[in-house]
Order: sequence, then C-alpha cells, then structure tokens
Amino acid sequence: MEALIVALPGDGIGPEVTAEGVRALRAVERLGGHRFQIVEALIGGAAIDATGEALPEATRSACSGADAVLLGAVGGPKWSDPSASVRPEQGLLDLRAALGVYANLRPVVTHPALYDASPLRPERLAGVDIMVVRELTGGIYFGKKERGPDFATDVCTYQRGEIERVLRMAGELARQRRRRVVSVDKANVLETSRLWRSTATTLFTSEFPDIELEHLLVDAAAMHLLSRPADFDVMVTENMFGDILTDEASMLVGSLGMLPSAALNQERRGLYEPIHGSAPDIAGRGIANPCGTILSAALLLRHSLGLEDLAVVLEQAVFAAVSAGHRTGDIGGGATALGTRAMADAILAELPAG
Ligand code: NAD
Ligand code: IPM
Ligand code: MN
Repeated sequence: MEALIVALPGDGIGPEVTAEGVRALRAVERLGGHRFQIVEALIGGAAIDATGEALPEATRSACSGADAVLLGAVGGPKWSDPSASVRPEQGLLDLRAALGVYANLRPVVTHPALYDASPLRPERLAGVDIMVVRELTGGIYFGKKERGPDFATDVCTYQRGEIERVLRMAGELARQRRRRVVSVDKANVLETSRLWRSTATTLFTSEFPDIELEHLLVDAAAMHLLSRPADFDVMVTENMFGDILTDEASMLVGSLGMLPSAALNQERRGLYEPIHGSAPDIAGRGIANPCGTILSAALLLRHSLGLEDLAVVLEQAVFAAVSAGHRTGDIGGGATALGTRAMADAILAELPAG
C-alpha cells in the first residue's frame, strides 16, 4: 500500500521523539513492502515563530489530505505568556477539531520488565490492560471562554450526539476485548455529566446489551486506577477528565514517556501522538523517551493503515528492547541510561530482518 503521512514535530522534545517515530515507520516500511510518503509541517510554537500562527493553513490542509498524522508535542515557556494572543496548544486543539478526531484511544498496558519503574507495587500492576477512550473535540476545551480583569469563564457543553459517538467507539472496542466499560463522569455535580451518564445507560442498553457498563465518579475513578487498575477494561470519559486520568495512569506503566495515543474520526483517519508534552525541563538534551511516539506510530499502522501485523511487530520490538534492559532515564536507566536515539536504535534492532 501507499500512504501519505504528515509528521508534525512541534516544540521542545517534540522534534526529538518525532524523528524516532518517523525512523520507526521507515524501518517498518522496509519490512512489509509498503510505501509511506512522509512530509513534515509546522505546528505549535515552531509555527508561531515562522508564520505567526499555531496552525498555519498549509499544515491544516496537508493534514486534512493525509492518511494519518504523527505529532510530537507543542508548547513551552517561550510561548506561555498569559497575555499572548496566540498559543501553541490552540494549534493542536484546532487541528483536532479540523480533523474531527473525537475519540482519543490511550492504551495503558503494564509490562513486567517495567514494574520497577512504577511507584506502585508489582502485585497491583500485574495484568493491567486498560483502553482509555477520551472524548477529544468537545467539553470545556472547546466551550466559550471569557476574560475580564477580575473574572474568567470556561463553558462546558456536550451535545448528546457527541457523547453517543464516543461511547459507541468504547462499546465497539470492548467487544474486541473483555466486554466491560467503565464510564467516568461527575454526575453528582455537573449537568454535562448527568447527560453523559443517562446517554451511556440508554445507549448501552439498546446497542451493547452484551457489554457490562459501570459508572464511576471521576474523583473515585482516580483512586480506583491506583487501588485496582487490573479490574478495568475500557474506560470512557469526557475530554478533561480523560486528559488528567491518563497522565495519572501513565505511572502504572512507569513513565509519561511510555504512553501512546490515537485520535480517530469517523473515517478512522487519525492523529497520533504520545500523551506527554514538550517537556521543557529536558528538551534539547537528547534524553527523552521515544517509546510513547514509537508506540503511537504502531497505533497509526493499526488504526489508519490497517497494518495490524506490522503494528504488533513494532509494539513487540519496544517491549523486547525494554525487557532486554534498554532504558532511558525516566524508566530507570540510572547511570547507564540511553539517550533518545540510542533507545530507538535498541528498539529497531529488535525488528525482524527486512
Ligand atoms: P510534559 O508532559 O511536557 O512533562 C511532564 C514531565 O514528564 C516532565 O518532567 C517531563 O520531563 C517528563 N516527560 C514528558 N515526556 C517525557 C519523555 N518522553 N521522556 C522523559 N520524560 C518525559 O508536561 P508539562 O511540563 O506540564 O508541559 C510542558 C508543555 O507541554 C506545556 O506547554 C503543555 O501545554 C505542553 N503539552 C503538550 C502536549 C501535546 O502537545 N500533546 C501534551 C501535554 C502538554
Ligand atoms: C494532551 C495535552 C493537550 C490536552 C494540551 C496540550 C492541549 O495535555 O494531549 O494530553 O490537554 O489535550
Ligand atoms: Mn495531557
């Protein structure tokens, strides 16, 4: 197959990890008789510096015409002045909206080789395999914002249809897994959550009677994620709750640098990115963990290109490298920690010969 992929390096460690994600795609291309055309474009702070805009029109149209987009991260102190008229993060939000990628899949899978990188005890981590489905194009991120000298407002709105489509994605994923969905909300306080909860109950009763649906309040869910993580199969939630819960869940795996994500629209075209940010505290030093990005490239192969076998091969290479003891600093590399490039080299060395 031929596929057009747009790579958006962005800011901070974004370019460092994206380079390794692209290299992984190139290595996979050599294995499978596929052709990937990979073009780079500007987003975030890098785009603001070059064009004054966080999502230039050229980037938006390149992404809209692509089969998939692989993004590093955006943002950083240089563009974080509270009075700035344009922010890097807005470019990412606009891109998500433009592509209509409403369902953000964030798999959280622990691996025995990394148990020692997690602050939790190994017996809690065994068998953890959670698919978090985060609503990505609605809620408080996209509501009306207002600011006066002494007040500020962020409106949170959800339409029933927006809730239904992401719940449907969660139900379909659960059918390929262990057939359990936990829907997370704050229905004891928020109207949007009460709509979310009743929509979930109605939809699962009519369309997914074979799937077990449970509701949890978000504060309790944050606790249950640490006390009984192996009990979860699919967890579905609104935009901001999903953002927060997945950074928390990354510590089950061992580091924020390990978690990938796939943001999908109705056509399964996708935006793929590690869940971490631009990590200004380590940017430019070549020490960022590339695993989250390489695993995002694997999700890209799976969900947008339909290359399941190659996705699995790449995922296995990541965990083979980690099992062989190859580590960046964030996952316990210590004095012998590998840099970004060397870690990716160790992963690519685990791929079968092409
Ligand atoms: P962050 O995710 O960038 O970093 C949090 C901590 O995790 C830092 O200590 C960082 O060094 C570490 N970390 C993150 N990724 C790592 C990796 N791959 N390897 C090793 N360590 C890693 O969060 P932050 O510092 O709160 O935010 C920094 C900037 O990134 C902000 O401007 C924020 O808006 C932006 N951000 C962007 C995205 C995105 O583009 N998708 C996601 C989150 C945050
Ligand atoms: C993420 C990030 C983004 C979000 C920011 C940078 C807009 O934290 O992708 O998780 O909150 O969605
Ligand atoms: Mn986040």
